[in-house]
Amino acid sequence: MTINIGIIGFGFIGHIHEQSLADRNQMKVIAICDIDSEKMNDSITKNVIKTTSVDELLKIKTIDTVIVSVFNDAHKEVVIKAAIAGKNIICEKPAAMNVSEFDEMMAVVNEKKVKFTVHQQRRLDNDFRTAKKVYEKKELGNIYTVQSKLYGLNGNMHDWHIYKKHGGGMLYDWGVHLIDQMLYMIDSKIISIFADVRNVINEEVDDYFKILLEFENGIMGEIELGTYYLTDKPHWFERHWFIGGDKGSMYSDGFIPEGKVVKTSRLLENVPGKTVMTASGPTRSFGTVADGILMTEELPVTNYNYQMFYDNYVNTLQGTDDFLVKQSEVRRVLSVMQAVRESGLKKESIKFKNGL
Ligand SMILES: NC(=O)c1ccc[n+]([C@@H]2O[C@H](COP(=O)([O-])OP(=O)(O)OC[C@H]3O[C@@H](n4cnc5c(N)ncnc54)[C@H](O)[C@@H]3O)[C@@H](O)[C@H]2O)c1
Repeated sequence: MTINIGIIGFGFIGHIHEQSLADRNQMKVIAICDIDSEKMNDSITKNVIKTTSVDELLKIKTIDTVIVSVFNDAHKEVVIKAAIAGKNIICEKPAAMNVSEFDEMMAVVNEKKVKFTVHQQRRLDNDFRTAKKVYEKKELGNIYTVQSKLYGLNGNMHDWHIYKKHGGGMLYDWGVHLIDQMLYMIDSKIISIFADVRNVINEEVDDYFKILLEFENGIMGEIELGTYYLTDKPHWFERHWFIGGDKGSMYSDGFIPEGKVVKTSRLLENVPGKTVMTASGPTRSFGTVADGILMTEELPVTNYNYQMFYDNYVNTLQGTDDFLVKQSEVRRVLSVMQAVRESGLKKESIKFKNGL
């Protein structure tokens, strides 16, 4: 089986989809579309059909699946048109600007019985999968905190991402990935959400947020992102995970995770306080730890890659798998994002009586 693909929106990620599919046998890009014809000049696909009209691309009968990679505010219109044309759909994230838009889109998708998934490929990031693996091993005891943090150190936001009308801002950009990862990892309902959402330097859109997700199982999920954490370090981002439980912790830094699982032999008995001199003065609780008290283990190894997203797509169309990213999960993430915005505006927590 070869699935013929049309890419609608041939900008940054449209090009990445084309490159990622270039060497695959079962998925073949046959057409591309962008309202800006110049964007298509550097297509690497031989004999690809190029058009500036979404309707023209959708008329191509041999296209089975479209990848929708236009600006965020145009997803709804393009997805609905594609569903009416009977095309299966891989939509870029965030699938919609809000839950009601998403519901409108899914009403047509489901009525037309076309397949639909969202390119939340950061579920395949190895830093995330490492944290998820540690979480699932249940060796850290009762977990009380799961922290996921991403900081841009050079103050970069760009192009349409700084405009509200196109769905700009970091919550729609990376926020959707970070929330999706947290919900995919923690197997519990959310009972409350508190968020601080700010425009630190942007006029129209958010460029900083801290989100606290209180889960029914007692875990507080914490997500923080800032694009304006200026430093002159040689790298351009910081990515951190921390999981804390009553039997141990896990920390990792970077997208290729470097860190440890850390446990302690020190129990809450026979622990005489020892005063240690530190740069901030004498302390007992925050001093260095005596030898032999901390036990460290290497992080588990994971081996995911983004091709697995397309593997899963092919397998699902062949009926041997289910979509990695399901409609109900996408809707839940959008519901969380809506509550995050509401909490950010009201500066109060949003509670879910029956859990979200
Ligand atoms: N999954 C990921 O990791 C990831 C990464 C980057 C972007 N994205 C998503 O992909 C989408 C595109 O982002 P980008 O960074 O590639 O932006 P981009 O500006 O580089 O590309 C978008 C392209 O869509 C075209 N376009 C806009 N409206 C159109 C329409 N109605 N019909 C046809 N073409 C249209 C624009 O001319 C532009 O070339 C966004 O939804 C974004 O959130 C996802």
